[in-house]
Amino acid sequence: MRTSRQKIVAANWKMHLDRVEALSLASEIIETAQREGLSAAQIILAVPHIHLHACGRLLESVGKFPLFLGAQNCHHEAKGAFTGEIAAAMLASYQVAYVIIGHSERRQYAFEDSKQLIAKLKRCFENNLKAIFCCGEPLAVRNAQGHLAYVRLQIEEVLSTLQPAELMNIALAYEPIWAIGTGLTANTAQIAEMHDSLRQLLMELSPAHGQQMPILYGGSCKASNAADIFATPNVDGALVGGAALDTREFLNIVKAIQDK
Ligand code: 13P
Repeated sequence: MRTSRQKIVAANWKMHLDRVEALSLASEIIETAQREGLSAAQIILAVPHIHLHACGRLLESVGKFPLFLGAQNCHHEAKGAFTGEIAAAMLASYQVAYVIIGHSERRQYAFEDSKQLIAKLKRCFENNLKAIFCCGEPLAVRNAQGHLAYVRLQIEEVLSTLQPAELMNIALAYEPIWAIGTGLTANTAQIAEMHDSLRQLLMELSPAHGQQMPILYGGSCKASNAADIFATPNVDGALVGGAALDTREFLNIVKAIQDK
């Protein structure tokens, strides 16, 4: 079935690249994407906070071309005595359009739970920021066949607390933890099963908006497997880690969705 859902390919640079490397990669991606007319999907560069200002200045030159700045996290309070943290309002003041919320690395290493993630989403929406909200199961849960229920709970606990209209500010990203940075991609049957389950859940949460929310896949997505992943029903794009650190590799993923 054809849908009008927004297509998105987002780069998550994680904690990679120094200043010179970050500016070089961002400018190469911007120039090449424009030159090759890769405008069928939104391209998001979610860079480390310290590079937001410089990368944002580069992105100012793109005009109407669909290239956007993303951040990888924000704090769950609006402001205050939280040394070392970054508020959503600060991100908004640097032309950030999207914030990755609930990445499995932050759930694991920073112990973020659903209550905090709800607050982070609220801070984003208060500041007109959209969110890429992540979910995904560990290998033990997958092996025990508990993956659908596990991911459903991750989404339901958070999204059921939001106003239906707020759902329009979210793209979901399904990232099975066992596929992140491992070179092990979920196969298309596994992706189809999960994305179908997520779509059903979104329709239950909001019949009016559930069909519209993009669902991205993440986990060892690269140029060589992107076309198969994008041909899978209910896959509207990708959240890309390692392969996003190379211009050609990343933009070939964008090309694969352009050709979908
Ligand atoms: P990789 O593409 O390196 O597996 O990372 C996926 C990811 O975690 C993106 O957020």
